[in-house]
Amino acid sequence: MVGSDLRDALAERDESFLALTKSDLDIMNQRAVAKVVADEKPAIIVNCAAYTKVDAAEENERIANAINGSSVEFLAYAANEVGALLVQISTDFVFDGSKRTPYEINDAPHPVSAYGRSKLLGEQAATHAEKNLIVRTSWLFGVNGPNFVESIRNQIRKGTDLLRVVDDQRGRPTYTPHLASAIVRLAQLDTRGIVHYADAGECSWFDFAKTIVEESGAEVRMKPVSTDDFPRPAKRPAYSVLSTERYERVTGIAPESWRDGLREYLIRRPPSS
Ligand SMILES: NC(=O)c1ccc[n+]([C@@H]2O[C@H](COP(=O)([O-])OP(=O)(O)OC[C@H]3O[C@@H](n4cnc5c(N)ncnc54)[C@H](OP(=O)(O)O)[C@@H]3O)[C@@H](O)[C@H]2O)c1
Repeated sequence: MVGSDLRDALAERDESFLALTKSDLDIMNQRAVAKVVADEKPAIIVNCAAYTKVDAAEENERIANAINGSSVEFLAYAANEVGALLVQISTDFVFDGSKRTPYEINDAPHPVSAYGRSKLLGEQAATHAEKNLIVRTSWLFGVNGPNFVESIRNQIRKGTDLLRVVDDQRGRPTYTPHLASAIVRLAQLDTRGIVHYADAGECSWFDFAKTIVEESGAEVRMKPVSTDDFPRPAKRPAYSVLSTERYERVTGIAPESWRDGLREYLIRRPPSS
């Protein structure tokens, strides 16, 4: 999802770049990572690859750690060989969600899921690159991947008469082209350390779903439910609103709105049949 939008954002700006898929480069293969970086000598490496199945990670923590943790070490070593900046994408799920005010970059991470733990390992690994930037983001939706917007649209398409959506988890939905632009901007400014980027406007999953329904022009009954009504293998933070104060200070730009992103998304992605 993020990788293809970043590719498009770079192409639009006439930047010179190489976009690799998993079949081009498996980041778990240290030798292959070292070779491609030594051959291409990039100034910047953005790692969009990850194990992203949050629930499945509970049973597959080793593989999640290998992709989200150890592989980032390989990228960090390779980046150091050519003096590249390593940009690692991380997540609001490194936090436990016990706060009730937005998470700042210096708040102590305390993941409550295997996925969150694996992503925290990735952050630690990324700091082994002499030049590193860790961009934490949240609740992504983009036209090139399965996401919450599609899951709501699929339920509407299947003719559900009642949409039940969790109302006691709060965060900041983020449209992936907005994130891609933010990453390009931060990298151009040679920003280092941890930065949070999330679109403007915090809400619950229920609020997000309600806006999707309204913007899609659908008519369906909706019911707010609690996390306990929807048991899932992985625990989610109840509150994972990221403060984007550092992003705004560094770039001088306020985050874009997820509602605007959603409108663009609905135009760009026709409903699946
Ligand atoms: N989605 C969210 O809501 C969210 C929220 C916060 C942060 N993030 C972070 O944002 C980043 C991008 O996420 P996304 O939503 O764009 O994920 P995505 O759509 O699942 O993309 C991840 C990509 O990584 C590839 N990949 C997996 N293992 C690999 C390997 N060993 N070598 C090379 N490529 C590999 C996957 O390929 P296959 O599909 O072929 O396996 C997939 O194309 C991740 O770091 C994620 O943790 C996501």
